[in-house]
Amino acid sequence: MISDPLSRRGFVGGSAALAALAAMGVPSASAANDKVRLALIGAGSRGNQLLGSFLPRADVDFVAVVDVDDKHATETAEAIKRAKGHDVKTARDYRSVLDDPNVDAVVIATPDHWHALPAIHAVMAGKDVYVEKPVAHNVAEGQAMIRAARKYNKVMAVGTQQRSSTNFQQAVETVRSGKLGKVFWVQTWNFENISPVGIGRPADTNPPAHVDYDRWLGPAPARPFNPNRFHLLFRWFFDYAGGMMSDWGVHLNDIVLWALDAKGPLSVYTSGGIFTSDDNRDTPDTMQVVYEFPGCTLTYSMRKGNGLKYNGHDYGILFCGTEGSLMLDRSGHEIIPDKVILPYGIKLAQGDRPLRSIDLKAEQVKAKDDGIPAHVANFLDCLKSRERPTCDIEIAHRSTNTCHLGNIAYRVGRRLHWDETTETFKNDSEANALLAREARKGYELPKI
Ligand SMILES: NC(=O)c1ccc[n+]([C@@H]2O[C@H](COP(=O)([O-])OP(=O)(O)OC[C@H]3O[C@@H](n4cnc5c(N)ncnc54)[C@H](O)[C@@H]3O)[C@@H](O)[C@H]2O)c1
Repeated sequence: MISDPLSRRGFVGGSAALAALAAMGVPSASAANDKVRLALIGAGSRGNQLLGSFLPRADVDFVAVVDVDDKHATETAEAIKRAKGHDVKTARDYRSVLDDPNVDAVVIATPDHWHALPAIHAVMAGKDVYVEKPVAHNVAEGQAMIRAARKYNKVMAVGTQQRSSTNFQQAVETVRSGKLGKVFWVQTWNFENISPVGIGRPADTNPPAHVDYDRWLGPAPARPFNPNRFHLLFRWFFDYAGGMMSDWGVHLNDIVLWALDAKGPLSVYTSGGIFTSDDNRDTPDTMQVVYEFPGCTLTYSMRKGNGLKYNGHDYGILFCGTEGSLMLDRSGHEIIPDKVILPYGIKLAQGDRPLRSIDLKAEQVKAKDDGIPAHVANFLDCLKSRERPTCDIEIAHRSTNTCHLGNIAYRVGRRLHWDETTETFKNDSEANALLAREARKGYELPKI
């Protein structure tokens, strides 16, 4: 078993011990040794956003940046040097930082198809992990990540940071409190108009000279380089990700599972297609995913050919209960009391009857924070406490599964029945085959 570098260095109480040594006039290890030493794997858009959240903290340092794009690695390493005043190691292959005893934990912000392997290899090498959402490219990869985190007893936190925002916490508390009555209807959505050009149809080209394209592809099938199937835009292709459903839908469905205290739906049916975008994406630009939960229905709606907002929001979550509704997005949430009416024809057919009144109070709550600093703080706290983080891999795996399920139902074109215990579809070998994929040779998941 690989020993834990944090406990080996006596992280808990480490600062106090250093202070005591200094007071005795004993030369102590540098202040840097008090810090959690991180390596960033994937220095693109999100990787740099995360740097902005981690770097201001005095108890954190980044000692390495890994990216298959040398330009991204170098530019990010330079930004860290400007902020922290020291050189930062760069590499193309993340395995070189996993062997490095100066790295305590890794922050992974690679494309979705490159989450599972570095996360699993990192915990096998004794490092704790912060990995971006959606947890993985497919259900089997997520399951392997949980097994690895548990077997090697490592922290594996996921970037579904809304759970650390007081806005989302209060909203979920309201839903769970019963104030809205019986919550039986939930809607999540993403609407925008990017039609008809969308991401366009650029021709295949040679990959940029500063990129190890074969390594960028990793477990995904080999194919010629196309600028759309690369930085940022990979999300619109099933080889690497799961389209809007898993890119954004995961944030929304994550909150729904939390509020409903559910591990997954009973069934899922998806209708949709590529209806408005004349581009080379292969994930849908239009979809309605209908999930069945015990006593509750959830629909995730997504369109990229019309940006009409839903109740004033271009994305969000709406919980409807028998006493009222709760509308939620990152800017805040609103409690909207309902009103009971007589069913059509009752008064005429059977006479009048008194209506029950609803005493739910209307409320508007403005978000005070985006949850990211608290999410980062929770990850760092867990490195010391060894507790499971707010968005432990198992929690985020289930939220990610709702997206995989929506996409699989889209691909097979029928209603699927889900067994949350075995994480398989009931009596559907075609759909079950899409829970995993065969990785390209050399990039297979390790057996755990
Ligand atoms: N939590 C959030 O709110 C949030 C927001 C945005 C993105 N994300 C997630 O972050 C991830 C990255 O998205 P992005 O928008 O930053 O993409 P991006 O394309 O801008 O960045 C990905 C980076 O990873 C690098 N990379 C690819 N394979 C690699 C490998 N094997 N080793 C090292 N580096 C590798 C790429 O070269 C690129 O620099 C996605 O999974 C996305 O869903 C999360």
